[in-house]
Amino acid sequence: MSKQYKIAVLPGDGTGPEVIAEAVKVLDAAGRKFGFTTEKKYYNWGGEHYLATGETLPADAKEQLSAHDAVLLGAIGHPDVKPGILEKGILLKLRFDLDQYINLRPVKLYPGVETPLANKKPEDIDYVVVRENSGGVYTGMGGNVMIDTPEEIACQNWVYSRYQVDRCLKFAFELAKKRHSAENPWRGLSEADRKAGYTSQLTLVGKTNVLTYVCGLWERAFNAMAKEYPMVKTAYCHVDATTMWMVKNPEWFDVIVTENLMGDIITDLAAMTSGGMGVSAGANLNPTGVSMFEPIGGSAPKYTGLGVINPLAAIGAAAMMLDFLGEKEAARAIEKSIATVTGTKLKSMAAGKMGYSTSEVGDLVVAAL
Ligand code: IPM
Ligand code: MN
Repeated sequence: MSKQYKIAVLPGDGTGPEVIAEAVKVLDAAGRKFGFTTEKKYYNWGGEHYLATGETLPADAKEQLSAHDAVLLGAIGHPDVKPGILEKGILLKLRFDLDQYINLRPVKLYPGVETPLANKKPEDIDYVVVRENSGGVYTGMGGNVMIDTPEEIACQNWVYSRYQVDRCLKFAFELAKKRHSAENPWRGLSEADRKAGYTSQLTLVGKTNVLTYVCGLWERAFNAMAKEYPMVKTAYCHVDATTMWMVKNPEWFDVIVTENLMGDIITDLAAMTSGGMGVSAGANLNPTGVSMFEPIGGSAPKYTGLGVINPLAAIGAAAMMLDFLGEKEAARAIEKSIATVTGTKLKSMAAGKMGYSTSEVGDLVVAAL
């Protein structure tokens, strides 16, 4: 009997439903080809549902989603809802409640995709950012006093436990160790490094020169864990310098690991260097629970309903989901199909400039598959 996966689908707001329709199309085609099926349950949570009912998520959202093998999410965000409500009430709440403590964001320049970085090719831009996804300033500790007076004080605490840091680092070291393969040899390593027996590289990004308490914890934990991974060459980079190297020498990076807010910021930059939001996918992972896969771009209200948005990021998210579920071959085949479509068909990755409609791009990926 073929394998069946239970998928919770949250198309969400704006262009979310349009890109998710294409991701589902590709998922179904991959299932037919590789011999698995998906049982999908759709949820209408998002801005429209909030405006109609005043509810961001039902009280039992966690229980409902936990009955699935994975969650596929379109986009959350609505122009008529005050910023913060849907982000905190849906996206962040799901990440926290499902304990998705890793945000995995591959930075990969597909063939045929334009990068704003001069003279950089697909082989130069191919790394992964492991963003800690549940702690730091996102924890939500803090407050305001003397609100709306000239003396108002605001405080947003940046907190990390050793436990949170260690589990994130563990994931990153394991990923770095596994990333080395014939297809992906020795990224960022010199001849001397290779001779010394290193197969991969892991860079910790922080700000140890100023934020000494929290970044000191990350650095000590990182150096301690490095001893268990002699094949992984470790490096450290301040976050400000990282943004510089990501633009100037992206080929230096293999796997980056960093805390939540720094990871949030550098991955938008990383996405722009590799073709933008139209092609960038991400995964919110709970390695022992239910994970959630999403295109990292937003709901793009101005393109909603026009059939012009690029669905490749959502299709890439579906591929990441299959990889995580263990359908490695199908995941790789979808990635290859995306590369075929970017390399031979699309004129641009930007909404409205692809030379094809949203659903035609989905069809092209299916045809390539
Ligand atoms: C992201 C987004 C979210 C974040 C927002 C929408 C809450 O920017 O997924 O990167 O800050 O994590
Ligand atoms: Mn972000």
